[in-house]
Amino acid sequence: SVERTLVLVKPDGVSRGLTGTILSRIEAKGYTIAELKQVRATREVLEEHYAEHVGKPFFEPLVEFMLSGPIVAAVFEGQRVIEGFRSLAGTTEPTAAAPGTIRGDLGRDWGVKVQQNLVHGSDSAESAEREIGIWFA
Ligand code: CMP
Repeated sequence: SVERTLVLVKPDGVSRGLTGTILSRIEAKGYTIAELKQVRATREVLEEHYAEHVGKPFFEPLVEFMLSGPIVAAVFEGQRVIEGFRSLAGTTEPTAAAPGTIRGDLGRDWGVKVQQNLVHGSDSAESAEREIGIWFA
């Protein structure tokens, strides 16, 4: 069925000038942009978005990283886009992510406390609707 997913180009992707490349790769696979904006996160938004990670050792570095610069937030649409985007993004750690994926081709380990991995994608239909509500309230 037609799904929607929240995609974030994180501050590392925006500051490295990879926004266009990343959005282009998602569009080239065949998904369509339903919503798109550049934003600065707030701690409140991040505590909602990353509710499952509050209290983990990487949470504070994650928040600092996500507050460090602009983010591009998008809603992409298409059949099975949630699974399709996660496959396109690659695994969490860019070093290990397969070549051919966004993280595998464009990311690396920068030796900092939090994985700077260029993009976020919702992991389920429930997360997608919850996250879209947070970033596109
Ligand atoms: P994402 O999956 O979008 O959301 C949680 C983020 O936390 C993840 O991307 C990484 O940026 C970061 N992250 C997850 N696990 C770790 C970890 N073990 N160490 C450092 N950063 C992590």
